[in-house]
Amino acid sequence: MKKQKVADLYEKKKNSERFSLITCYDYTMARILSKTGVDMLLTGDSASQMVLGENNTLNISVDMLIALTKAVRRGAPDKLVAADMPFMSYQPSIERALINAGRFAAEAEADAVKIESGWPQVETVRAAAESGICVIAHIGLRPQSIGLKGRPKAEGTYAEDAADLIRLALALEHAGAGFILLEAAARETAELMQQKLSIPLIGCGAGPACDGQVLVVNDVMGMFDGPSPKFARKYAEIGASISAAANAYHEDVISGAYPQDNECYHIKPREKQKLDE
Ligand code: KIV
Ligand code: NA
Repeated sequence: MKKQKVADLYEKKKNSERFSLITCYDYTMARILSKTGVDMLLTGDSASQMVLGENNTLNISVDMLIALTKAVRRGAPDKLVAADMPFMSYQPSIERALINAGRFAAEAEADAVKIESGWPQVETVRAAAESGICVIAHIGLRPQSIGLKGRPKAEGTYAEDAADLIRLALALEHAGAGFILLEAAARETAELMQQKLSIPLIGCGAGPACDGQVLVVNDVMGMFDGPSPKFARKYAEIGASISAAANAYHEDVISGAYPQDNECYHIKPREKQKLDE
């Protein structure tokens, strides 16, 4: 496959074609997903929940996410790979944001970085874009703002909030964002936003008007039995398959059905061993 480029997704938008993203946090899954039609892999800071077992996305470091993004890149060399800028990797200053975004681009070879963006991040996005980095500006529900909001909640579900969100999306586009990602917002808000933006709009629980959609891989694959949002459609029961396989293996070990002779090594006579060498 030839290396996918951000421009390929712009081309899709131009042709009114939709595109898909899915999160990915490791090499093995990246190899599997690299052989699918999915357009972009996102090493999200949801890794803090799905990989590390934290109950929010605050406690994951740049170094950790860079390591995971590198693993995804190695597993899917031809795919578009985006990486999340984790909590406090871009908020303290534009300088800090550029240094960290640069690490994701250069060390992890991410095609894009995602920044949870409010009004203060408009200048951050502008500086990153002017440095040549493709930014996915993430608006609407911003999980890194959990401390302020108390709990995750859909945004832009009131008309005045919708107008605010659309103003923010347009400001981020004008600042040079490559994409807007809108999480957990009213489908009507997304529809209006999609009409006003010229860059592609990626939805995560924002309805069908978006140019692209993103979901968490563990939700899609049915590998996570914790709470998941209503838009997280499950396409497989991989968790149940893993449990069944682990139980079958366990039973075979207990009964002695595993291992069989063809799964064993044997002592070879010396002469034959020499010939084999
Ligand atoms: O970290 C994440 O999984 C995300 C989403 C948009 C899916 O940011
Ligand atoms: Na995220």
